Amino acid sequence: MRDIHNIVILTGAGVSAESGVATFRGPDGLWEGHRVEDVATPEAFARDPDLVQKFYDERRAKLKTVEPNAAHQALAKLDQAWPGDLLLVTQNVDDLHDRAGSQRLLHMHGELNSAWCLACGERSSFLDGQMALDPACPKCDQFGFLRPDIVWFGEMPYEMERIELALAQCDLFVSIGTSGAVYPAAGFVQSARHYGAQTLEINLYPSEGSFHFHESRMGKAGELVPDWVEEVLSHV
Ligand code: APR
Repeated sequence: MRDIHNIVILTGAGVSAESGVATFRGPDGLWEGHRVEDVATPEAFARDPDLVQKFYDERRAKLKTVEPNAAHQALAKLDQAWPGDLLLVTQNVDDLHDRAGSQRLLHMHGELNSAWCLACGERSSFLDGQMALDPACPKCDQFGFLRPDIVWFGEMPYEMERIELALAQCDLFVSIGTSGAVYPAAGFVQSARHYGAQTLEINLYPSEGSFHFHESRMGKAGELVPDWVEEVLSHV
């Protein structure tokens, strides 16, 4: 721990599971009840925008009923107290890391609370008002061009250059609550190791990529992440 200055943390759906947000894979996962091709591709949106909007409207409505859990709060505490570089990269489109107070945060797969106008290219926040996706873009007033600001299958995640740079410079890479089934995020551990970082996984169960990590801790994020954060901060 003495030589750790730069930390990159990757989170997935598992970090929000104890808040009551559904994960994607597994028996109660979102992809058990929906076909990815029907709701999470640009082709699906072109074919049936109402179905796609409904899927994300329901998930956005669910956000109002959930709260950050002990894992989100511990990561926000680490963000505020860590004197070195730190980047929290989340695959989650919920706003629980934001609400817990994490500042050095990237949403690589987009955000439920954001809409993207395909006419003017601007993003608008649902938190700014009562915007629905069917009326005009609040920035350019054109109708019919707003889409959920979600990175769909077949699309490039956001901020990849910044993430790759952080991975190349980090001393510690920690992956929390992700199945390691979706690239490029699933490959971050290999990049970080390639550049010499220590690597730690926290997950309920061994994931597809567990063997890539120096250390794996199995259990609930809400219990293990606060302990890990205290461990890290005890070395500051
Ligand atoms: N604590 C820790 N880990 C947990 C918990 C918990 N309480 N509950 C579940 N998990 C773990 C599961 O064991 C699983 O490995 O979280 C992981 C969730 O995996 P997925 O449902 O596949 O979610 P994620 O890895 O975030 O998915 C990646 O896939 O569909 C796309 O764009 C979507 O961002 C998403 C991406």
